[in-house]
Amino acid sequence: MAKSITRYVCQQCGRVSASYMGKCPQCGSFSSMVEEVIHEAGPVKSPNASRGLTGRTSPRRIGEISNDFEERIPVPIGEFSRVLGGGIVPGSIVLVGGDPGIGKSTLMLQMTLAMAGKKCVLYVSGEESERQIKMRADRLMERSGNFPDSLYLVTETNLQTIFDHVREVHPDLLIIDSIQTVYLPELDSSAGSVTQVRECSSQLRELAKSQGISVFIIGHVTKEGAIAGPRVLEHIVDTVLYLEGDRFQAYRLLRSVKNRFGATAEVGVFEMRERGLAEVTNPSEAFLAERMINAPGSAIAVTMEGTRPLLVELQGLTSPTQFGNARRTPNGVDYNRLLMIAAVLTRRVGFKLSEQDIFVNVVGGIKIDEPAADLAIAAAVSSSMRDLPVRADAVLIGEIGLAGELRLPGQMPVRLREAQKLGFKAAIVPKRLRKAEPWPDDIQIIEARSVHDALEAAFAIQRELPKGRKVA
Ligand code: TYD
Ligand code: MG
Repeated sequence: MAKSITRYVCQQCGRVSASYMGKCPQCGSFSSMVEEVIHEAGPVKSPNASRGLTGRTSPRRIGEISNDFEERIPVPIGEFSRVLGGGIVPGSIVLVGGDPGIGKSTLMLQMTLAMAGKKCVLYVSGEESERQIKMRADRLMERSGNFPDSLYLVTETNLQTIFDHVREVHPDLLIIDSIQTVYLPELDSSAGSVTQVRECSSQLRELAKSQGISVFIIGHVTKEGAIAGPRVLEHIVDTVLYLEGDRFQAYRLLRSVKNRFGATAEVGVFEMRERGLAEVTNPSEAFLAERMINAPGSAIAVTMEGTRPLLVELQGLTSPTQFGNARRTPNGVDYNRLLMIAAVLTRRVGFKLSEQDIFVNVVGGIKIDEPAADLAIAAAVSSSMRDLPVRADAVLIGEIGLAGELRLPGQMPVRLREAQKLGFKAAIVPKRLRKAEPWPDDIQIIEARSVHDALEAAFAIQRELPKGRKVA
């Protein structure tokens, strides 16, 4: 009889231990260890391991290696294609993560429908029945009945059976919706556990590499913001894409967090409509569409999302604190960043923010983590504090330092060009101390050394700031 071993696996980070531990020594999470029984047969053999599909390896000169296998499969959805780095690489494995209900299945199904005329696609769902998927596809296609023959759907969660289907159908693309629902019967742990997720994805990876099938894996993000069994998964796949956005707003951002075949931090913008996700080819325009001109508490920042500049409206509101501690409530910007900006405004500019609750909001439900938006956040907050509108025709770009000084972010020419293209007349930016690259000259550049100077230039109506302090 096969001997079996009991071990404990942390469901957060995958750390294995021989005995139960209340706190994981690797990631520090509590009660995350789950018991697993492993039979003597050892870890499951991958389907191709014994066949030795790759054959014997031998080193080759770099020049002798051809790169025609890099031929990408074009994707007709432009925004999706740019995030992938210009199409799907055959034999690659892509993880599409995101909160439940954000639109991952919709995006994958839309891609599948768009590709199916040219490539053979197998869509495996463990969450919805074939009829449910068909109904959704009908809605996405705007008409029913006219589907390409090369699109197969199946509801299945056993990975062995899925491999049988792959052998039968020979797809070019395989979609797994979602990795948390598939399982290998040889493993004793339940579907969705770290062991299952890791083992299933490595087998899928082997399938991708040996057969040249491009595999898309959908993964749900847990409340803590990590894909279940996340770190283990990120090493296995070639590309990690995150679909994010506010569920109550229409915009969705598809972000590449890791990409072996293209630039990371690339972003595709979509809008959730009645008939699925629609591409937003000019996101800056969309994000600024509902802006109220000359209202206090609003400023425009130019952030870089990957290689693309994005203009976003930042809103600030200050309101006298009611009970003791003043609250800071950021929506879409980092909490600590807001604390720092509030402290600089208090100490270096002279606003009395300690008795004020501060709210900051990024319009459109997107998240900004670039420090280049600091100045716009500061302007939005001080604009609300002073009840004075910021110049409507100006964008604000700059990182704020603790001394109240401004620092220049990278890729300024691209940012300025985008602002100019959208009709902005001026840009309030940090002073350039080193003129490395030429800046566009069809937009007025207002350079400022400090937050204080920048804010003085930012307000539409000139009025003295509180006791001015300048950075030498
Ligand atoms: P879904 O793709 O099922 O999310 P996930 O796979 O990430 O869990 O998206 C479901 C949401 O999208 C649901 O709230 C309804 C909305 N939706 C639309 O608004 N329009 C559409 O055409 C479709 C298909 C979905
Ligand atoms: Mg889904």
